[in-house]
Amino acid sequence: METDYKMMAAEVVSLSEADMGWLPIMANVSAMIFEEMEGINWAGFYVMDKGSLLLGPFAGKVACIRIKVGKGVCGTAVERDETLVVPDVHAFAGHIACDSASRSEIVIPIHAGGRVVGVLDIDSPREGRFSEEDRKGLEGIVRAIEENIEWRSPDFA
Ligand code: SME
Repeated sequence: METDYKMMAAEVVSLSEADMGWLPIMANVSAMIFEEMEGINWAGFYVMDKGSLLLGPFAGKVACIRIKVGKGVCGTAVERDETLVVPDVHAFAGHIACDSASRSEIVIPIHAGGRVVGVLDIDSPREGRFSEEDRKGLEGIVRAIEENIEWRSPDFA
């Protein structure tokens, strides 16, 4: 079945009408992608914190907590500030294997105030899982996040 990326981008806008905080939006978007895309085993976010990527909301197995800029697929996407589609992670030097079942991966940088503030990362146990159409659709979701999110902390008071 085709993934309905337009519906998912519209859902980001509608979720943001309830609350624009990055935490609930990223949590719900992880769950939505995990539910809507077939053949994936991890979907989630890393956010920039003190100069490296820190694990954010996700759906899937336990994952590595911190990734340096320039390391792994995620850190390389941040360094280059571009989407990386990796058809075979075994062929990507420096790939960080959080789950040995993962075979392909897509990582899309997220921007705020003109800089990269995080990434959307999706893994699949299938080689070559992510098509050009997936890339465009997922970049559309990231653009919707960039336009509809507020980078504020929850108020713990
Ligand atoms: N494979 C990623 C690490 C994060 S996990 O896939 C969730 C990488 O090489 O950056």
